Amino acid sequence: MTAKIIDGKAFAARIRGQVAEHVARLKADHGIVPGLAVVLVGEDPASEVYVRSKGRQTVEAGMNSYEHKLDADTSEADLLALVATLNADPAVHGILVQLPLPKHLNSDLVINSIDPAKDVDGFHISNVGLLGTGQKSMVPCTPLGCLMMLRDHHGTLSGLDAVVVGRSNIVGKPMAQLLLGDSCTVTIAHSRTRDLPEVCKRADILVAAVGRPEMITGDYVKPGATVIDVGINRIERGGKKMLVGDAEFASCAAVAGAITPVPGGVGPMTIACLLANTLTSCCRANGLSEPEGLTA
Ligand code: GUN
Repeated sequence: MTAKIIDGKAFAARIRGQVAEHVARLKADHGIVPGLAVVLVGEDPASEVYVRSKGRQTVEAGMNSYEHKLDADTSEADLLALVATLNADPAVHGILVQLPLPKHLNSDLVINSIDPAKDVDGFHISNVGLLGTGQKSMVPCTPLGCLMMLRDHHGTLSGLDAVVVGRSNIVGKPMAQLLLGDSCTVTIAHSRTRDLPEVCKRADILVAAVGRPEMITGDYVKPGATVIDVGINRIERGGKKMLVGDAEFASCAAVAGAITPVPGGVGPMTIACLLANTLTSCCRANGLSEPEGLTA
């Protein structure tokens, strides 16, 4: 079998287009412009690239982008004070504090100081609890993007066996909750899971979110399964720098029914879903109906 390639780049462009259309209508009909504030502490080069990209795509979608760059030695009190200001600012509908934070800052404390309604990352404990109990919440962007691609490919996910490899708070756990919400039978596997290839081979949907380059090979994949590769690993091969996923593409694609490539799969969906979440948050704040197809 040769897998269908799920084109995340094209899918994300479609989502951004839908967001931009909705934003234009909000502006025309109600004079409202959604605003996203991104807070970056320190100078981690990868984070700077992400933040720039977020800012550019926010503006391209017709929304306001507010960037706050703070020194690496910013105190926790100063960061919490900035979050409090953004919480109180009616022009700000989404707040994202870029992770990882420098070590002297308590990430949990900072994330949980964000107004849950503006928590477009979906990392606040209130949103985690709402998602876990099937209530309306803000949903973490990367798993939301994966869910959108899976729904698009499969139609309904009901009754499918899903295995999520990785148990992070950002991807693995919320991904499992979303799949459960769509009536999959869900297994969360991780580094201590026994017989991992056998567990993965039961999956109709296999989500690889382990952060280990090319760990999932074709012999982990059930013939015809859908492989969603969340990994973005920078490696050097034959003297060349390259990006690879957590799944070894060639061997997985030879067995799977569908697969997301790296780059061009899950990656572009994350920012597209961040824009969608900002729009959703803005609609909720103004008592307007939410954009269809852009939420969980
Ligand atoms: N760092 C890497 N990915 C993310 C993300 O999705 N949100 C935040 N806040 N920080 C990140």
